[in-house]
Amino acid sequence: MDTRIFLIGFMGSGKSTLGSKLARRIGYQFMDMDHLIEETAEMSIPTIFNEHGEEVFRKWEHDILVELCSREQLVIATGGGAPCHSQLMDIMNANGSTIYIQLSPEALKNRLIRSRTERPLIKGKSEAELLDFITGLLGQRELFYSQAKYIVKGVNLQTEELARLLVDS
Ligand code: S3P
Repeated sequence: MDTRIFLIGFMGSGKSTLGSKLARRIGYQFMDMDHLIEETAEMSIPTIFNEHGEEVFRKWEHDILVELCSREQLVIATGGGAPCHSQLMDIMNANGSTIYIQLSPEALKNRLIRSRTERPLIKGKSEAELLDFITGLLGQRELFYSQAKYIVKGVNLQTEELARLLVDS
């Protein structure tokens, strides 16, 4: 099994929840990139976007991910946009196993509506606007996400299934 497992996918696809369960199951440490960025910057993600802008956020995201690539036995939940910026998809594929958790725009919309995490890219959108936004952005991001080593369907995905996938490969 690779020493780094990267979970990738759109906002709301369940990367953090699955990632922490998977890490426990395989005895790896769990890392949530968004939390690491917030800890390092001593600022929430919405504040980073407001005060520094998305470009700076992407730079910090890149730096954190590169730093994680020097550590071992990690399950890493990446931010939804990470694989689509700064060559990070290539960097992840070169440094571990990437797993894309794939959900439909409709399923993502329903999960994001219920989520309490504040996400600057979707703040203030109505349900219809949100569905349009997800459909458009997911269309662009699929080009990157689909370069993952494994693609798994996110609905009803079990930790055990993920663990087996990694062990059997
Ligand atoms: C983003 C997703 C967020 C966070 C930031 C930008 C994106 O992470 O990194 O708000 O570009 O899709 P989650 O995928 O954990 O929500």
